[in-house]
Amino acid sequence: MKKRDVFDFYGHYIMNTYTRSPVIFVKGKGSRLWDIDNKEYIDLFPGWGVSVLGHCPPAVVNAIRYQASRLIHLPNNFHHISQAKLAKEIVMRLGFPAKVFFCNSGAEAVEAALKLAKAWGQRKGKTEIITTENSFHGRTTGALSLTGQDIYQRGFHPLLPNVKRVKFNDISAIKEAISPETAAIILELIQGEGGVNVAEKKYVEALRKLCDENEILLIFDEVQTGIGRTGRWYCFQHYGVEPDIMTLAKGLGGGVPIGAMVAKDEIAKAFKPGMHASTFGGGPLVCKAGIAVFRTIQRQHLLSKVQKTSEELRNRFLGWKKRWPEKVRDVRGKGYMFGIELSCPCRKIVETALSRGILVNCTHSNVLRIMPALNIKPKYLNKGLSILEEILEDEFSNPK
Ligand SMILES: Cc1ncc(COP(=O)(O)O)c(C=O)c1O
Repeated sequence: MKKRDVFDFYGHYIMNTYTRSPVIFVKGKGSRLWDIDNKEYIDLFPGWGVSVLGHCPPAVVNAIRYQASRLIHLPNNFHHISQAKLAKEIVMRLGFPAKVFFCNSGAEAVEAALKLAKAWGQRKGKTEIITTENSFHGRTTGALSLTGQDIYQRGFHPLLPNVKRVKFNDISAIKEAISPETAAIILELIQGEGGVNVAEKKYVEALRKLCDENEILLIFDEVQTGIGRTGRWYCFQHYGVEPDIMTLAKGLGGGVPIGAMVAKDEIAKAFKPGMHASTFGGGPLVCKAGIAVFRTIQRQHLLSKVQKTSEELRNRFLGWKKRWPEKVRDVRGKGYMFGIELSCPCRKIVETALSRGILVNCTHSNVLRIMPALNIKPKYLNKGLSILEEILEDEFSNPK
């Protein structure tokens, strides 16, 4: 297919919901991508955090190949081996007994968490959910209602009632907001789309205490931070604070669409057969891929590698702050989830980077987001960042 035809087909047949760069990718391998003209790119933001093991990781490709030839789909009124095994892979790394509900995306995992919190709160008269400013929990109506950013909600009101939005990292704001009707507090430990804002340890500890004292569920949305992204299996493990409910998606399938809502045993009991379901959720193909993701991260000791390299990366980014003190305001993040806050918009930097063969992201208009694959080879990481440094130097010394 010719390039022009691809763009034409998009124009004619695809709904206009995304701002897309004019690039057509045809192949990916590890942390590299190739476009239709065979130009090579280094991907420092693979799939918005989905491709934790890079593009087409061999273990995931093999798992999909194997499963595709045996059983692709099975509805959830039957059992299959991969779902059983993947649930165990998820739960055995939590550190507490829990049950899993499988779905297909992050928003669906949040919807499932919302429904479970409601089901749990029903008999206690608890129907209210508290969320934080600048959070992002997805685009479906329930998840959107929990998303603490007007920009995503505009045009879609009325949304769900009984949702309160409070300041992030501010325990007194939560204290003021809770009431006997509060069923749950939902939190991203690192707000991804909101600008890579890291929750403080004291805040998260105080939240847990407050939830325990007031019989409120604590939900951690780990759709972006889970599956090794921050150098631990789950980000909550940095805090030593357990959630009652946790959501996962993005990295869980290494590229295939899968989400999961995980709840402590006692809470999970609020769901009875028939109360929630997903036709595709937890099918054999995606679960087999998920198992391969967990085992590859484990076998290749990627968590400890990420932890080590993360410090080197942080120092490199802090070096940018020293070099361009007027332009680089802050460096935030954990593991391989970094946000570099600039004093100027970063869209143009991202576009220039793309033209020079580097994929990075800009969130919250002025936060450069870098989230490489956990197994990125040092030579690609280094090359990608060196080119980015040249772009920043150029941009900051000759702003147009
Ligand atoms: C923390 C968080 N929750 C939920 C979502 C929604 O996930 P999805 O786009 O798979 O529906 C996202 C997506 O970026 C996210 O970062």
